[in-house]
Amino acid sequence: MVEERIVKIQSRALELIHGANSPEDLERVRLDTLGRKGKLAEISKEMGKLAPEERARAGKLLNAAKQAIEEAIEGRKAQSGEAALRARLDAEWIDLTLPAPGPRAGSLHPITQIQMELEDLFTSLGFMVLDGPEAETEYHNFDALNIPAEHPARDTQDTFWLTDGNLLRTHTSPGQVRGMERFRPPLRMVAPGRVFRNESVDASHEHTFYQLEGMMIDRDVSVAHLLYFMKTLLREIFHRDVTVRLRPGFFPFVEPGFELDIQCFICGGTGCAVCKHSGWVELLPCGLVNPNVLRISGIDPDTWNGFAFGLGLTRLVMMRYGIDDIRLLQSGDLRFLQQF
Ligand code: DAH
Repeated sequence: MVEERIVKIQSRALELIHGANSPEDLERVRLDTLGRKGKLAEISKEMGKLAPEERARAGKLLNAAKQAIEEAIEGRKAQSGEAALRARLDAEWIDLTLPAPGPRAGSLHPITQIQMELEDLFTSLGFMVLDGPEAETEYHNFDALNIPAEHPARDTQDTFWLTDGNLLRTHTSPGQVRGMERFRPPLRMVAPGRVFRNESVDASHEHTFYQLEGMMIDRDVSVAHLLYFMKTLLREIFHRDVTVRLRPGFFPFVEPGFELDIQCFICGGTGCAVCKHSGWVELLPCGLVNPNVLRISGIDPDTWNGFAFGLGLTRLVMMRYGIDDIRLLQSGDLRFLQQF
């Protein structure tokens, strides 16, 4: 009987669909029952032979079977999509009640650390900490420091000029001028900051580096005062005896001027790339403030005098930690930075 066969095909198909484990299984059932050469198609072909009444009944049954099988296949497909999703969610499940791994703490850049230590030290010695602009006027960077246009000292500081006639400060010394403009003597100040020179970069030169300027103006300030503060500074930073040498140095804003060098820590004085194979590192140029500098900023040099220094912060960091390549400091390399 055709009708019985249809019912059997349908129930067998539904069973298979139910037990299918993959899209391929389902496709096989579909082809086998609904396909052009499938079991139901075969029955369709035979329908012509049936009596009209029976044909009508069997036709209805056939259509119902087709629909039931199609729906079952679609249902099963949707179900396995859900199952796949559930499996994925299970695999990706995380336990929100577990304690968090905790934030990864960063650290201050070694230059910042030394700068802060020096600010503390100088504050404890009665110095104010001043800030100034990185884009400076020619007046503050040069003229007011007794370096007029055409002065050869300008050539030693290869300058990044800005299109508006200003410049990127080549040193922190304009901090002296700004300090004198704002505060009257007696006066003790340090001005740390970033400075810029149009230099080619190598192991010991950067176009961008850090200095800390210092200035003290009072009555009867002498070289002895200057040396006292410089020695205090070095002892505080290095926590050990540092071999230093004092040479005459020329800077238009001090008279007399000195170069205070320290023996190179990297090579112990035998010579390396950092000390340019001299065994010594220029770290602390300084001197007594040139009376012209005071006069230009409206301070009477007959009443007041002082000392000034320009500490190379970047060099100081390199010496303290034995860093032999200045480029590491601005590399942004976390493997380097995480050591501090
Ligand atoms: N500004 C100088 C430079 O960067 C360094 C310097 C020398 C600063 C002597 C001073 C000083 O205050 O007295 O080359």
